[in-house]
Amino acid sequence: MSVDIKIEPEGLVGIVAEGTYIWDAAKRMGVRLPAQCEGRGECDTCAVIIKEGATLLSSLTQAEREHLSPERLAAGERLACQAKIEHGGQLTFTAVPTTERAETTEEAVKDFRKEFREMPLNRKLATLVEFEAVTAFETLSSIASLPFTIGEKVMDVMAGFGRKMSQEERAARRPAEHRAQTAEEKAAGETPE
Ligand code: FES
Repeated sequence: MSVDIKIEPEGLVGIVAEGTYIWDAAKRMGVRLPAQCEGRGECDTCAVIIKEGATLLSSLTQAEREHLSPERLAAGERLACQAKIEHGGQLTFTAVPTTERAETTEEAVKDFRKEFREMPLNRKLATLVEFEAVTAFETLSSIASLPFTIGEKVMDVMAGFGRKMSQEERAARRPAEHRAQTAEEKAAGETPE
């Protein structure tokens, strides 16, 4: 059975298969919800508010209980990477505004760029001098702890491999509560990248 999706306030509509996670459903409809922790259930950046069809979704996962306060849960919030659409019907949701959830790194950089552009020249210069001091300090610290730097590089390479994980490996990031899903459901799922 299929699920009718509506994303507000854009008013986008589409159809996805049962067993699809909200995050994947949004992506298929051209909406890439933020996913700071890449779908591991370790942040709240993918939070959405369910306007209609809450009963079509899987039960709350441990991660959702940990990252959404009782007030947010009561307001109908779910984590898009954790909530699986288990039944057919109408599901309407909207992304939680940035002001009400943790900001992603990308959003923070964007905010800073805007703030910097609007600064008067003297404040811009002061900020740049401050950056220079921080960069110089970090450079010295990294030279002083070279083995640690190498360790970090190794971590970067490993993160690169991580991004190329196969569909099956990525499925392992799914909530523990959903690991026993059928092969058919797996085919419908896609992990946030
Ligand atoms: S909890 Fe981090 S992306 Fe969903």
